[in-house]
Amino acid sequence: MQILLDSAIIEEARQAAAWGWVNSATTNPTLLAKSSLPPAETLRELGKILTGQIFYQLTGKDLQAMQTEAAQAYDILGEQLVLKIPATSLGFQAAARLSQKYSVAVTTIFTPAQAMLAAAAGARYALYYHNRAKRLLPDGQGEHLAEDLVRVLDGTDTQVTAASLKSPQEIVEARMAGVPILSAPFAVLAQMPEHPLCEQAVAEFDANGTGLLNS
Ligand code: G3P
Repeated sequence: MQILLDSAIIEEARQAAAWGWVNSATTNPTLLAKSSLPPAETLRELGKILTGQIFYQLTGKDLQAMQTEAAQAYDILGEQLVLKIPATSLGFQAAARLSQKYSVAVTTIFTPAQAMLAAAAGARYALYYHNRAKRLLPDGQGEHLAEDLVRVLDGTDTQVTAASLKSPQEIVEARMAGVPILSAPFAVLAQMPEHPLCEQAVAEFDANGTGLLNS
């Protein structure tokens, strides 16, 4: 299981890296637009701060442009790069070509059929939007999307990856559906270690207990 930071904010990446249980980040064009640095510099900094994968989403509008953009991203991030490619007809064509050279994540997946194409195109990750799917897909399809994606990708080399996770509860929900990789915003990750009963128990240990540092 892996927990990633869904952000392109450098300070958030620094704090998340200090936690020690996050070493990778997912970005997208909207997240990159929130960085105070230009995209290339943001990616370079993220790659220095975090030791794991940095997901960068292609914005090119044809195969040639996507190929050029992928090479630019690889120049910046090297083996840390995971190319995110939207699950469109053009995106699947690009994924099939680029996955021969780069690590690829097909993103914005909203159906099991798209996840199957991601696997057939050689993507290592099939990334879906957990909260958005629950809110926007008709007939409650979003409620079981995570589970459906895990089932159709069982036995393949493509791992389901959840984004659009709005609370620690949604992270748990996706995990309980079998999702192995979970990417959430900084504010959501920051809530994960906390529980008032834990704080209470620690306060009791501090008040009544002793240890090596006290003796
Ligand atoms: O990285 C995916 C994320 O940015 C989309 O989530 O919150 O717009 O549904 P959201």
